[in-house]
Amino acid sequence: MDILALCGSPRKNKTTHSVLQAVLDGTGCSSEILRPADMNIGHCTGCLVCKKKTPGKCWQDDDMAMAIDKMFETKGLIIASPTYFGNVPGPLKNFVDRSIPTSYTGKGDPWMGAENHGTRPLKGRPAMILVVSGGADHEKTAANIRLVLEYYEYSIVGEFVEPMGGAVISRDEYPDIYAELFELGKMFGQAVHDYSP
Ligand SMILES: Cc1cc2nc3c(=O)[nH]c(=O)nc-3n(C[C@H](O)[C@H](O)[C@H](O)COP(=O)(O)O)c2cc1C
Repeated sequence: MDILALCGSPRKNKTTHSVLQAVLDGTGCSSEILRPADMNIGHCTGCLVCKKKTPGKCWQDDDMAMAIDKMFETKGLIIASPTYFGNVPGPLKNFVDRSIPTSYTGKGDPWMGAENHGTRPLKGRPAMILVVSGGADHEKTAANIRLVLEYYEYSIVGEFVEPMGGAVISRDEYPDIYAELFELGKMFGQAVHDYSP
């Protein structure tokens, strides 16, 4: 599989999903969508067992082990999210926090040359940010996602960050927005195609 896509909305088939689907349509790549709200993901307890005791592995026996495997198996990552109080919804935040063991596998370069923050096995992989809001603070949500992707040293190749006011995008109802998203997807698909570790 080429692309792992996270759909951060707890609501099925609404704005976030529709934006993500239009982008995926354009990629021409194989992809899988994970919905953190439908997954069994405990919150990060900050214990650092994944750093100090079992490097690269969390002690929690839940869906995050499978999700991290998929982060490594796929070439590209898309994070799509609604805005909840200027941030991502709780289930997606849990996903993000629980992705921290990827920094402690020992694979990849040290972060900014220093070992304290672990290594960056996902460095250089193409990533895309898709954020919607009812009308405000979508830029804050995007900044939070950007921070995470930059921490992991993904290569952010495109963003769609817009106040969508609840619109559900389809080719028929919003042809211009659908076309814009499809083009973003094409660009992302090319970046995934061109990526080599
Ligand atoms: C708990 C909660 C908090 C929200 N916070 C904001 C916000 O800060 N700014 C905003 O413009 N919209 C906010 N919204 C609206 C959603 O971002 C908007 O309805 C979005 O389309 C939801 O995505 P979905 O349709 O994919 O579920 C909030 C919605 C909820 C349920």
